[in-house]
Amino acid sequence: MSVPSGETPSPPTSLIDRFGRRVNYVRFSVTDRCDFRCVYCMSERMTFLPRARVLTLEEVATLGQAFVELGVRRIRITGGEPLVRCNVLWLFRELGRLYEHGLMELTLTTNGSQLETMATDLRAADVARINISLDSLDPERFRRITRVGHLATVLRGIHAARAAGFQRIKLNSVILKHRNHDEVISLVRFAINHGLDISFIEEMPLGVIGDHDRAEAHYSSEAIRNDLKQVFALTPTTEKTGGPSRYYRIPETDSRIGFISPHSHNFCGTCNRVRVSAEGRLLLCLGQEHSVDLRHVLRAHPGDLERLKQTIINAMAIKPRGHDFQLNGQPVILRHMNHTGG
Ligand code: GTP
Ligand code: 5AD
Ligand code: SF4
Repeated sequence: MSVPSGETPSPPTSLIDRFGRRVNYVRFSVTDRCDFRCVYCMSERMTFLPRARVLTLEEVATLGQAFVELGVRRIRITGGEPLVRCNVLWLFRELGRLYEHGLMELTLTTNGSQLETMATDLRAADVARINISLDSLDPERFRRITRVGHLATVLRGIHAARAAGFQRIKLNSVILKHRNHDEVISLVRFAINHGLDISFIEEMPLGVIGDHDRAEAHYSSEAIRNDLKQVFALTPTTEKTGGPSRYYRIPETDSRIGFISPHSHNFCGTCNRVRVSAEGRLLLCLGQEHSVDLRHVLRAHPGDLERLKQTIINAMAIKPRGHDFQLNGQPVILRHMNHTGG
């Protein structure tokens, strides 16, 4: 099966919210667990969900089928760290079958720790694109930001993904002042040298993290662009990958430099996505609590795909206009990012 790539036209969808936004993209978090403890994502001590509350892989596959029948064209698998979920390759293979029923892109967001051994199988399972978190190229800093991660393992994972034939691998770098803001030029050089795209992300206030003051650590996309412009000729492009990144090109390189700027450039007006948390909550917005319990529908009415689809259609009525992220004070959204995978 050949995997479509690049920009896709807006498809017909049954999922339209009250602001006229078309939902054609769903993100499934398949576990809240992770082998890293990134300082912007988790607090140092985390309690993870008991197994019975987490959707089974079969339940996620059923949801995938329901969403694609409703007109969804992109599915992204996230976590926690999705590749630590036992047997997750089975899920990729199952979802890969949906390419024959309208799915255009099955993608993965990962911290890269398992890619060295899994990249080839993921490629064979028709995963179209992979986004890999990489916040620092300095091993000691990398460990401090992830609290427990090893840079060398992730670098080997990135090389394995390239060797497996993935095109347009994208790095995700959450930039924090005084932690890694001085690395943006080296991160771009790394991306260029390895033929990768890169997105710089402004930290979002999800859950209490305890490690740093988010307002103090804020480093805006504009500040990053100014730093980069000292060295690179950044040219804006209209290219999109389906997500909120706004891209720039650097002449004579193949890399796209993206900026995800929930604070400095709100993108909610063009939101095309919903999420399903590891415990089966259909979350209508990353930055709000509006949700519908799909696990209940799956377990109370097994095999009833029509009921599931109708529940998802009805949920469009409560998709909020957008997030209200505030960097000062306690976060309004208490769930951590690992519950929804971003
Ligand atoms: P592609 O554009 O398909 O490459 O992916 P993406 O950038 O949308 O997804 P990825 O999982 O790599 O997420 C990168 C960052 O974007 C993470 O920090 C996500 O939390 C953030 N993000 C993705 N979608 C949204 C969204 O709808 N709202 C907000 N506020 N952030 C988002
Ligand atoms: N703000 C912004 N991005 C975050 N991520 C995790 N937590 C946050 C946060 N609080 C990013 C990770 C990963 C993606 C899924 O979300 O770095 O690349
Ligand atoms: Fe794990 Fe990703 Fe959260 Fe880091 S950002 S702790 S890698 S889920």
